[in-house]
Amino acid sequence: MSDPNKEFDGIKQGENPLPAWWKWVFLGSIIFGILYPIYFHGFSDWGTTEYYSAQVKEYTELFPNKNVAIQSQDGSNPMRGNANAIASGQTTFQTYCVACHGPTGEGLVGPNLMDKEWLHGNTDAQLYENVMKGIPFERTKLGRGPMPPHEMSLGSEKVYQVLAWLASRNLEIKPTK
Ligand code: HEC
Repeated sequence: MSDPNKEFDGIKQGENPLPAWWKWVFLGSIIFGILYPIYFHGFSDWGTTEYYSAQVKEYTELFPNKNVAIQSQDGSNPMRGNANAIASGQTTFQTYCVACHGPTGEGLVGPNLMDKEWLHGNTDAQLYENVMKGIPFERTKLGRGPMPPHEMSLGSEKVYQVLAWLASRNLEIKPTK
């Protein structure tokens, strides 16, 4: 019996050289495989870093940062007493807060915001923190559910407006301690 590597089931191994075109494709692939990463990482702007920063740029143009902090030195609400801010704040409250704090802020599932009792502090800075960051379940005192954060949905300016409206209605909200 002849060498099974040379012949099997009547099929013969030819020992022919590989076709020239095949060798060129093979060699070409190796050269391409070396040059392409060098080009990609060193010279092209197709890398993920560039792509990522382009995407971030596009996103920030579409959704500008709402937290353009307009702050006061002592943490008091810079929009206190500002009539325009109070009016806008009332509108925002009607949209974002009434579901839980009631149409006039007298409380529903969320606590009454028009009385003298404060579970989480009554200064501008504390209210700002509570509304921006929310009150996670672990810190709730009523156990009726958490207070959601509003830093993404409203942002600092609108939150200050809402708090200016609240402060105009409830004198228990103090600018500072
Ligand atoms: C999904 C319901 C919900 C929404 C919407 C909501 N709140 Fe609340 N809020 C709560 C709950 C519940 C608490 C009390 C958490 C606890 O048990 O301590 C609370 C607490 C607060 C407190 C602290 C009160 C205190 O006594 O210290 C403030 C201030 C407040 N909310 C303001 C707002 C404002 C302003 C908005 C709108 C921008 C708003 N909330 C929207 C549910 C909500």
